[in-house]
Amino acid sequence: MTTTLAIANQKGGVAKTTSVASLGAALAELGHRVLLVDLDPQACLTFSLGIDPEDLELSVHHVLTKRTDPAEVILHTEDGVDLLPATIELARAEADLLTRTGREHVLSAVLEDVDDYDWVLLDCPPSLGVLTVAALTAADGVLVPLQCETLSHRGVGQLLDTVHDVRRFTNKDLEVWGVLPTLYDGRTTHARTVLETISETYGLDVIEPPIPKTIKFAEAPAAGRSILATSRSSKGAQAYREVAVHLAERAARSRRP
Ligand SMILES: Nc1ncnc2c1ncn2[C@@H]1O[C@H](COP(=O)(O)OP(=O)(O)OP(=O)(O)O)[C@@H](O)[C@H]1O
Ligand SMILES: [Mg+2]
Repeated sequence: MTTTLAIANQKGGVAKTTSVASLGAALAELGHRVLLVDLDPQACLTFSLGIDPEDLELSVHHVLTKRTDPAEVILHTEDGVDLLPATIELARAEADLLTRTGREHVLSAVLEDVDDYDWVLLDCPPSLGVLTVAALTAADGVLVPLQCETLSHRGVGQLLDTVHDVRRFTNKDLEVWGVLPTLYDGRTTHARTVLETISETYGLDVIEPPIPKTIKFAEAPAAGRSILATSRSSKGAQAYREVAVHLAERAARSRRP
């Protein structure tokens, strides 16, 4: 059985892509088979895994809008995970899909034919547009990376409204797995307070441990590998490994009848 998680927050720069790459690598280290899907036309995930989007002829755009077989597009990466890559062409998919009936279901339909994985992690773009809604429609759960700063909760309500609509209209089984604190500065009590406020206001679980802010993360994408490979024993890598273990435990619980 596959567990599909959307990593979503319409706020930019909250470590969605970093979390997808790092959790993917951490789950692969645990022996799980992992597919990452880049749903952002900026293609940062694709780039950060060492693939130059400009070199690609086929991408997730073709799979979503031209019915290309995902098996023709999926790449193996050095991080031990597979990737359905994006290119800037994906920017057109949003417009192409807008007029299509059933557009919310395009990704779930594609993923139904891809069944060799324990995990599919969906890297959402920083918007609540067609691609994010398609990701939420295809997902079993959603993980919300959040930077613990005063204004960071302003978008959470909107995201949860979208989740609510998705549950109502396109995917009644979607579950919010929780908030993942990222870019966390443990030296301040402020971060902890913001986190508590958000979890109380919205009734969300907080996934532990928080991912510490460290310069190592800025260096990893240039190396084309996740921080788990470039900085194996750093606190950030270790935190993502612990989060991956918690995700695996939760998936095992929900797989049991
Ligand atoms: N724990 C961390 N410590 C320090 N820097 C980090 C950390 N996590 C991510 N970053 C850096 O923060 C920036 C934004 O991260 P990332 O691209 O993962 O966010 P995103 O939410 O996917 O952004 P976008 O909304 O543009 O897709 C990147 O430069 C990344 O290297
Ligand atoms: Mg991103």
